[in-house]
Amino acid sequence: MTNKIAPSILSADIMNLEKDVKMAERAGADLFHVDIMDGHFVPNMSFSPSVVAGMKRVTDKPLDVHMMVDNPDDFIKPVVDAGADTVLIHAESTNHIYRSIELVKSLGAKAGVVINPGTPLENVKYLFPIIDQILVMTVNPGFGGQKFIPGMLKKIQRLDQLRQTTDDDNFEIEVDGGVNEQTIKQCSEAGADIFVAGSYLFAGEGEEEFSKKIANLRKL
Ligand code: DX5
Ligand code: ZN
Repeated sequence: MTNKIAPSILSADIMNLEKDVKMAERAGADLFHVDIMDGHFVPNMSFSPSVVAGMKRVTDKPLDVHMMVDNPDDFIKPVVDAGADTVLIHAESTNHIYRSIELVKSLGAKAGVVINPGTPLENVKYLFPIIDQILVMTVNPGFGGQKFIPGMLKKIQRLDQLRQTTDDDNFEIEVDGGVNEQTIKQCSEAGADIFVAGSYLFAGEGEEEFSKKIANLRKL
């Protein structure tokens, strides 16, 4: 599987979102990561399904929608209708993660499960046959610009080992939080396939710097 770079628009210039999206496309973004937060599941608020719909109007790249909300089932249809290509649901946000994943699939979108830093892999291994992605959080969810938790590398490695020893290996491993040119290399060596990057990419000034940074991330 090839490495994919997913800029997280949480760190984009919200008043110039379309401009930032076009810049990221020109720089070679493979997909876009859209964070939805409700102020309950995580101590912050961010985008809603209407932002997913807005993104769909300005880009043809796949939209990877990260749901950091309580009662995720209530929001699955709205985000799929808005144009989400993949819906990522936190295992900790529902008592019925299997059902939530089935709901996503029944609506025709790709489904992913997300695990917080403290959540064991054991909690998701029975989902392998029905998921397209597993997102390993490498920071505590809720904010951009946090430091990568190094202990998560073992978790990614272990997940990749599990994937190599199962027939239900048809899923990609994604990482989110603190990804930069150093940590991306470590995550890739550990077995990750999709890399979300927010503050690293958007913190700079101008298109030239952004393109350089995407190129740096690709130099794995
Ligand atoms: C954090 C979000 C991330 C965030 C990552 O809870 O899920 O997608 O944008 O930001 P960085 O890359 O700055 O850690
Ligand atoms: Zn995210």
